[in-house]
Amino acid sequence: MKLIATECRPPQPDTAPQPRRALRIAVIGSGYVGLVTAACLARCGHAVVAVDSDEAKIARLADGHVDVYEPGLADLMRAQLVAQRLRFTTGIQAALRDVDLVFVAVDTPGRSDGSTELGAIDAVMRDIAAVVRAPSVVVIKSTVPVGTAQVLQRQLDEAGDSDAPRVLCSPEFLREGTAVADFLQPERILIGDDGSDDAAQRLLLAAYAPLVDAGIPVLAMDTRSAELSKHAANAALAMRISFVNEIASIAGATGADIEKVCDGIGSDRRIGRSFLRAGLGYGGSCFPKDVAALRETARRHNVRSDMLQATERINDRQRCWAFNELQRDMGSRGRLRGLRVAIWGLAFKPGTDDVRCAPSLALADRLARAGVRLALYDPVAMANARAALAHDRHTRWAESAGDALTGADALVLATEWDEFVAFDPDAVAAALRLRTVYDGRNALDAARWTEAGLRVVQVGRPILPPSARSLRLNLAAEQRARRVPLRAAGPLDIAA
Ligand SMILES: NC(=O)c1ccc[n+]([C@@H]2O[C@H](COP(=O)([O-])OP(=O)(O)OC[C@H]3O[C@@H](n4cnc5c(N)ncnc54)[C@H](O)[C@@H]3O)[C@@H](O)[C@H]2O)c1
Repeated sequence: MKLIATECRPPQPDTAPQPRRALRIAVIGSGYVGLVTAACLARCGHAVVAVDSDEAKIARLADGHVDVYEPGLADLMRAQLVAQRLRFTTGIQAALRDVDLVFVAVDTPGRSDGSTELGAIDAVMRDIAAVVRAPSVVVIKSTVPVGTAQVLQRQLDEAGDSDAPRVLCSPEFLREGTAVADFLQPERILIGDDGSDDAAQRLLLAAYAPLVDAGIPVLAMDTRSAELSKHAANAALAMRISFVNEIASIAGATGADIEKVCDGIGSDRRIGRSFLRAGLGYGGSCFPKDVAALRETARRHNVRSDMLQATERINDRQRCWAFNELQRDMGSRGRLRGLRVAIWGLAFKPGTDDVRCAPSLALADRLARAGVRLALYDPVAMANARAALAHDRHTRWAESAGDALTGADALVLATEWDEFVAFDPDAVAAALRLRTVYDGRNALDAARWTEAGLRVVQVGRPILPPSARSLRLNLAAEQRARRVPLRAAGPLDIAA
C-alpha cells in the first residue's frame, strides 16, 4: 500500500476508559486489521506494542503516519502514541516478552487454487513458540481455514514444555471504511476456544472489557466453529450480492427494475434490504479470497460447494457488465478500439483506498486490452491503483472527476463515492461526446441525469426515455457530432 498523505492534526485529548486491569498486549501485523486492533486495544486502556516485519511501515507509524486511508484511524492512533499506550517495533521476540496476550493479524492471502497461504502465520508462531509461555494467550485474528488453530496449538504444544500458551481464535468482522467503529462497537465478539477451562477466554474478555461492559454479545464456541463462522459470514454476504446480480440480469432481460424488486423483497423482514445491491460485483481483500478458501475447504473434505461456485461464477460474469454494455453499444469488439472512456472510482468500495480485487481494475485492464483509451480517477485510491494496474501508455491518471471527463466519449461509474453521486450531470453531459453513462453501482439519480441529456445505463434497470429537454440537448449534440467526426466508429443511438 502506498503512503497517503494525512493531515497532521494535533492529537485529540484521549479519555480512554480505565479497564479493570490494564493488560500488556502484542499485536503482530500492522495492516488494516492489526493497526485497528492495536489502536483500539490501546484506546481500551491497555499497553500495546504493535509489530510488523515491514521496517519502512513501522518507521512511518511510529512517526504518526498511517499508510492506509481509514477514517478516524490516524487520529486515534496518534492519541494513543501521545498517551504512551501504543508503540511500534519490528523486533518481534522482544515485543513478545512479558505480554499477557498476543493478537496475530498478519495477512493470509489466497493461492490461485483457493487454498490459503499461511506462511506469515507460521513465521509468527515460530517466534511465539520461542518466547511466549502460559498463562499468556495467543489470539488468531487473521482469517484462517477451519482447523488452523488446532494445528497451531499442536505445534506450540510440541515445541514447548508443558507450559505452551493456549491458542484461541477471535475472527475479525470489521469493514474497511468503518473499521474503528466496527471494532469498538461490533455486533458480536466471537471466541473460539478448545480449552478445558475458561481461563484463556477470561483473559481475552478482559482485553475487550469496555466492549463487554457496554453489552456487546459474546459468542464462545470451539475453534473450528469460530473459524468456519468467519468464512461462512463472508460467503453469505458474497452470495447475497451474486444472488441480487443474477436477479438483476433477469430484470434486465424482462424489463423489470431490480431496484424496485429489491424494495419488494427487502421489505420482507425475513430477507431484509442490506447487501441487496446490484452492481459490478464484490471485490476487496476478503470476499473473493474467503469464498475461494471455503470452496477449497469443502473440496478437501469431499463436500460439494455448488452455491459457493455459483457465487464466484456470477461475480466473475458481473465484473464484465460495463465492458459488455459498452461492446453492445459499439456494435462489435473492434469498434471499442480508440474509444475514450472515463472511469470514476478505483477503490473496491467507497471509504477505502484498498484496490485489492477491485472490479474497477479488472474492467480497466479489459478495456485497455481492447484498445480503449482510459482516464481513471479515484479520490483516495490513485496511488494503490497505479501500483496495481499494468502500465498502459494510453491510460491517463486524471487529476479530478471533472478532469477524467475531458475528451471522454463515455463514463463508467465503478465506485459510488459521494462526490461522483453529487456531481453536476449537466457538466457531465456537456463533456461526454457520446453522452452515455454506465452506472455500475446503480448509484446515480437516473431521472435527473437523463433530464440533463444523458443516456444512463444501470444494472438490471430499464433505460429511461429521454425527456423533451434531453431530446433537444441530444439533437444539438448530434448536430455538433456531425460536424466533428467521432473517434469511435459511430455515435450511440442516444435517443433510443
Ligand atoms: N482487511 C479487512 O477488511 C479484513 C477484515 C477482517 C479480517 N481480515 C483478515 O485479517 C488478516 C489481515 O488482513 P489485513 O487486511 O490487515 O492484511 P494487510 O496485508 O493489510 O496487513 C498484514 C500485515 O502483516 C504484516 N506481516 C506479514 N508477515 C509478518 C510477520 N511474519 N511478522 C510481522 N508482520 C508481518 C505485513 O507486513 C502487513 O503489514 C487477513 O487474514 C484477513 O483475511 C481482513
